[in-house]
Amino acid sequence: MHTSVAIIGAGPSGLLLGQLLHRAGISNVILERQTPEYVLSRIRAGVLEQGMVDLLRKAGVDQRMNAEGLVHDGFELALDGRRVHIDLKGLTGGKTVMIYGQTEVTRDLMAARQAAGATTVYQAADVRIHEPKSDRPWLTYERDGQVHRLECDYIAGCDGFHGVSRQSIPAEAMEIFERVYPFGWLGILADTPPVNEELVYAAHARGFALCSMRSPTRTRYYVQVDAQETVENWSDERFWNELKARLPQDLAEKLVTGPSIEKSIAPLRSFVVEPMQYGRMFLVGDAAHIVPPTGAKGLNLAASDVSTLFDILQKVYHEGRTELIERYSQICLRRVWKAERFSWWMTSMLHQFPDADAFSQRITATELDYFVSSEAGRRTIAENYVGLPYEPVEPQADTDLPLRSRCA
Ligand code: APR
Ligand code: PHB
Repeated sequence: MHTSVAIIGAGPSGLLLGQLLHRAGISNVILERQTPEYVLSRIRAGVLEQGMVDLLRKAGVDQRMNAEGLVHDGFELALDGRRVHIDLKGLTGGKTVMIYGQTEVTRDLMAARQAAGATTVYQAADVRIHEPKSDRPWLTYERDGQVHRLECDYIAGCDGFHGVSRQSIPAEAMEIFERVYPFGWLGILADTPPVNEELVYAAHARGFALCSMRSPTRTRYYVQVDAQETVENWSDERFWNELKARLPQDLAEKLVTGPSIEKSIAPLRSFVVEPMQYGRMFLVGDAAHIVPPTGAKGLNLAASDVSTLFDILQKVYHEGRTELIERYSQICLRRVWKAERFSWWMTSMLHQFPDADAFSQRITATELDYFVSSEAGRRTIAENYVGLPYEPVEPQADTDLPLRSRCA
């Protein structure tokens, strides 16, 4: 089998890229290790930046999101009981975010792909990448006890943090930047009405908490827990009590509790690989970078990578602009690092760090107070939260130098 772009992974990155390419008349095949049911069973993030909303519209998969997504004009910070409103719309000249679960985005993309008749091979085992540095890269995979071969022009590694794409790059050809945080997030999903119309990010001496939602009748709540915690230690009752203890009193009193329909613990990590490209293989989304969820950036960064790669591939196939291929990594990394910085900052400001001494605790509290008490500070938070602009793929005057040279 031959295709223009072989995509590894049918998460949001792979499916969105596939849909955009298909609409542009560029053939592609997706190889996914799991079943579609398994992919849809993963509960992930739920805040979409305007840029991602626009990209989903461009891909023609916005119908259900338009009908069911919740547009949020702001969010709240609760700082040891004090509630601060971050007016996203007012502070950014009208930008907002959309609350619509990643699972639903994935479901819509799967349906669109099926309707388009594009090929997705689910349960493709042992995907291997061959000759990514040649003009004719190829993949092999196992399905139904047979080894299959897929030839292509380009490979999009959309296979998440644990995927095969990044692992296929020789160690000496990449540099890894990483920070693992000494805590995780315990999250539950429940069919209860949200405690507040907007999301609430709460910093508290007992640890961070987040009140999010999926719809007017479904909530997603999180509490910071030790890195070694296990879900078995957390009954629903213990979770609700801990959440209440970390919220301002008026919210704690309003909180409606109920049985959890999902409960899981996610570790927190910052991770970036440079470059995001090896020969004719591109790394996209979680395959190339991970952010802690505090800034709601993971899914949105996947979308901006997809947008960049799609724009480049479109110019390659329709205008013969193969020289743009070399620009993918640097364009993506500039935006990735800004989102890494924001996610790290939000995480550092709002969580309790077990080894923080009294001085650093005061400095953090003061930094937060300084930011939220000044309009400039709130605007900085708002413009990062709604998402920084996507960079065009055509060369710009002064942005093409590597990060280090520009800083020097
Ligand atoms: N072969 C084929 N498929 C694979 C392989 C492999 N060796 N390894 C992983 N996959 C599949 C996974 O099963 C998964 O369906 O690749 C897909 C990767 O999807 P995600 O992990 O969701 O990554 P991505 O599509 O980049 O999504 C962006 O940002 O922060 C996050 O929550 C956010 O998951 C979201 C992500
Ligand atoms: C979520 O709804 O799951 C969610 C929302 C905001 C975040 C992280 C997760 O920052």
